[in-house]
Amino acid sequence: MQVISFANQKGGVGKTTSAINCASALGVLGKRTLLLDLDPQGSSTSGLGVQKSSLRFSSYDVLIGKCPIKNAIIKTEFKNLSVLPSNMALAGAEFELTDIERREYLLKRQLEELDKENLFDYVIIDCPPSLSLVTINALCASRHLIIPSQCEYYALEGLTQLMLSVKNIKKRYNPSLIITGILITMHSPRYKLSAQVMSELEKYYSDILFKTKISRVVSLSEAPSFGKPIYYYSRYSKGSLEYLEVAKEIISRIEGIF
Ligand SMILES: Nc1ncnc2c1ncn2[C@@H]1O[C@H](COP(=O)(O)OP(=O)(O)O)[C@@H](O)[C@H]1O
Ligand SMILES: [Mg+2]
Repeated sequence: MQVISFANQKGGVGKTTSAINCASALGVLGKRTLLLDLDPQGSSTSGLGVQKSSLRFSSYDVLIGKCPIKNAIIKTEFKNLSVLPSNMALAGAEFELTDIERREYLLKRQLEELDKENLFDYVIIDCPPSLSLVTINALCASRHLIIPSQCEYYALEGLTQLMLSVKNIKKRYNPSLIITGILITMHSPRYKLSAQVMSELEKYYSDILFKTKISRVVSLSEAPSFGKPIYYYSRYSKGSLEYLEVAKEIISRIEGIF
């Protein structure tokens, strides 16, 4: 079971959109996939058509140890795709966990139990936009980190900061964590500034940038309001095909095939 966190301390960079659509594309490509929503906003949850208000258990209950992860997972209507849903309850977790011993490894332990059941090939974690204890739990439970980033000037600053944080997290909590890729989102090559920033990114991060970039297209922002990943909303659209390509790159980087 390969565990991949989608994280970036910045909000609005395409974490959730990429987590949903990479998870969905992995499912389409035959990988049994779990999308684990760790954001109290629950956008990954609603983006897969799961009602946040009617959850019996959520990622909050799993983190605080109230229920085994297996009991909180919901099968979606989409191929090979399940979700561990989230809602606002998770916003309180930060406080409740502060006194627990080894609080950074709560999710890791749950995923180790899940791994024994051999239900999933891939677990994709959608992280909140912060380096909170919840995000640290995600990074402690993951072998892989994918960083979605917009191609804009401030992204460069943000990435430098994030790289430092990742280095610290590796040293303190999880030495086996690797940055598996930086994924450029909401790309519009016609903007001149975009091209400048892109060439900077290529200079510093050429070895980890995904070859595929995700274009800025309306359908990717529309699909969640229909509770569908892009593949099921508009199968042959640009965004759908790009996320399929990214999923192939992920498989190739992690398993060495494709
Ligand atoms: N490639 C894209 N093209 C157009 N809109 C996008 C694209 N990716 C994300 N968005 C939109 O940008 C906003 C932020 O994206 P989101 O995935 O929620 O970011 P994050 O999870 O990092 O906060 C959302 O409204 C989303 O629909
Ligand atoms: Mg998000």
